[in-house]
Formats: sequence, structure tokens, C-alpha cells
Amino acid sequence: MDIRFEKTSCPKEKPESSTLGFGKFFTDHMFMMDYSREEGWHDARIIPFGPLQIHPACTALHYGSEIFEGLKAYRRADGKVQLFRPIENIRRMNNSAERLCLPQIPEDLALEVLTTFVKTEQDWTPTANGTSLYLRPFMFGNDETLGVHAVHHATFVIIASPVGSYYKEGINPVKIMIESEDVRAVRGGTGYAKCGGNYAASNRAGERAEKKGYSQVLWLDGVERKYIEEVGAMNVMFKIAGKIVTPMLSGSILPGITRKSCIEVLKKEGYEVEERLLSIDELDAAMKDGTLEEAWGCGTAAVVSPIGELCYKDVKYTVNEGKIGAVTQKLYDTLTGIQWGKIEDSFGWTYQID
Ligand code: PLP
Ligand code: COI
Repeated sequence: MDIRFEKTSCPKEKPESSTLGFGKFFTDHMFMMDYSREEGWHDARIIPFGPLQIHPACTALHYGSEIFEGLKAYRRADGKVQLFRPIENIRRMNNSAERLCLPQIPEDLALEVLTTFVKTEQDWTPTANGTSLYLRPFMFGNDETLGVHAVHHATFVIIASPVGSYYKEGINPVKIMIESEDVRAVRGGTGYAKCGGNYAASNRAGERAEKKGYSQVLWLDGVERKYIEEVGAMNVMFKIAGKIVTPMLSGSILPGITRKSCIEVLKKEGYEVEERLLSIDELDAAMKDGTLEEAWGCGTAAVVSPIGELCYKDVKYTVNEGKIGAVTQKLYDTLTGIQWGKIEDSFGWTYQID
């Protein structure tokens, strides 16, 4: 597809790496293309980063027809820039689109526009340790009518943001509160899709947790409030009595690409990994009898993030004396090693730009 390029007339100063944080700065350009049932995807363009003009009746604003993805471009030591498993993000985006009745983007087209955009903005990929260029593709329905129906017009956008660590704690353990009132998603709903509405529904519990000094909440299932699901912005894994246990993909949690990668790394390292239902009672017992050896979250933004404290119904449990455990550290080192090109990518997960 032809991609029109309109270069910015006022390039921005790049931020100092120590000030990056997460999602505060944006690059000079953004990618956009439009969809209509008659024309399909058209008018692909890379244009100066700036506000979008949308109709006040836009479907996304009223009925939440919005999906997004998150992946990163990493600067290797040799200066080249690479992506991590981008095809997985593209496939998940199309699954999310299917759930929300948004249009599919053919995989080769999605990869083409993504890599063309990253090439344009690659100078923004920071070099400092642990930093990267976070890519946020998103799609929204923008029919200009208040009728509720599958969308006929949509817009796909990619923006990019140089980032440091997601949590202020960095690689240090975070504190997570187990939520026993609100639920995030139910089977048959949109939990497995990466859509904005899931996050909007999470905010109330997230706020409550933050006020109590916790980074995020750990969700229980929406029907029985009995089974562990995932954390606000990451999947979750536990080491219980020597085995790795992670909630199975039941339809209500996001099929994380970091989760999938962690499982593949762990299996290669010879660990037994159980993807299954894990009840809060089982976890509670393991916290009490000391068989919960490690807990961590995993996600693109969060990378591999050790959990040092879990709080359930106001009872606090310290995990591994509040320190990062050996498996968590190994996973962090392996994944970040592959992502930043510091160790050999024996899985074939990296995708070099140029
Ligand atoms: N779960 C939720 C709710 C998330 O927002 C994310 C982040 O994308 C993840 C899990 C981890 O997914 P991934 O590893 O693909 O980034
Ligand atoms: C990601 O890790 O890419 C996410 O989308 C998490 C988030 C910041 C909501």
C-alpha cells in the first residue's frame, strides 16, 4: 500500500532518558489509515503527531468500539532497532477486532505499515539501559451516527512513545492487592480482547488499591470470585512448591505475548509449567504455609515484574521476603536479553528493522 508521508515542520527535542517514565512523551509523527466497507483500508499516511479530528457522534466515544495493542522497539548494542514478536500483536489485534466487530487488517499489511512507521521514528528509540520505544497501535469505530451496530467506518492509528520502566519500582518488587468486589471481565465478554472498555472497568478498583499504596489489583474471576485471573496490566505467574502455575486462558484474561514467551522460556529451562485454574483458596494456603516461593507479573510495559507483597481482604502476605526470586530474575534476564539483542535469540522472536 502507498503510504503518504508528511514530514513535521517542527521536530521536537528528545527527552532525557532519566525523565522518560511511561507514555509521557510522543514522537514527531503518527501513522493513520481509514476503513470503510466500500473502500476497505485506504489513505495510509504518516503525518505530524497531533490531535485527531473526530465527529461528536463517533461510535467509539459512545459505544466503546476501540481496541489497542502494545509492543516495543528495542535499541540493540550495535545501534540497530528490533521488534519482539510483532506478528503476535497483529494476530491478537485481529482477534480483538473480531470480538468488537471492527475490521480486520491483513497481517502483511499490518506488518508493512508498522515497520514503515518504526523506520520513520527509529531515531526516537532510546539507548539507555531498560528504555525502549513503546508502540501503541489502536483502532476505533467512527461512524457518524448514534445507531448501535457493527462499525462501517474505522480508523487505525499508531503512535510511539519513548519509555523507561512502567512501575516506579522498576525491577524492584511491586505490591499488589487482590480485588474481591469489582471484576474486570467474564467469560463470553471481552476479557481476551485488548479493548479500552476492559481498562475503564478496572479503574475503580485500581484507584482504591493505589490509595492503599498498591501498584495494581489482581483480579478474581467474574462469576465466582474464586479463581485468579490477571493483574491490571500484566499476566501473573506463581512458583508454588517448585512448580510454576499460571491461570489458563479461559476467555476472560488477556493472552499475553510476554506470558506466552515466559512459558516457552521456562519449559526450555526444564521447569514444569501448569496452565490451569488456580483458586484464591489454594493461593491463600500457599501464602500461609510458605509454599508460595515466588510471584511475578509479565507484560510488554511491565516486562517481568516481581511481586513482593500480596494483600487479600486486608491481610498482607510478603512473598520471598519482598525480594526478587531466582526464577523471576532468570526470566527477566532471558527476555530482556533477547529483546535488547544482548543474548542469542534461539527462539527466533526478534524482528529487525532494516
Ligand atoms: N493483561 C493485561 C490486562 C494487559 O494489559 C497486558 C498488557 O498488554 C497483559 C496482560 C500482558 O500482555 P502482553 O504480554 O502481550 O503485553
Ligand atoms: C502493555 O503492556 O502493552 C499494555 O498495554 C499495558 C498497559 C499500559 C495498559
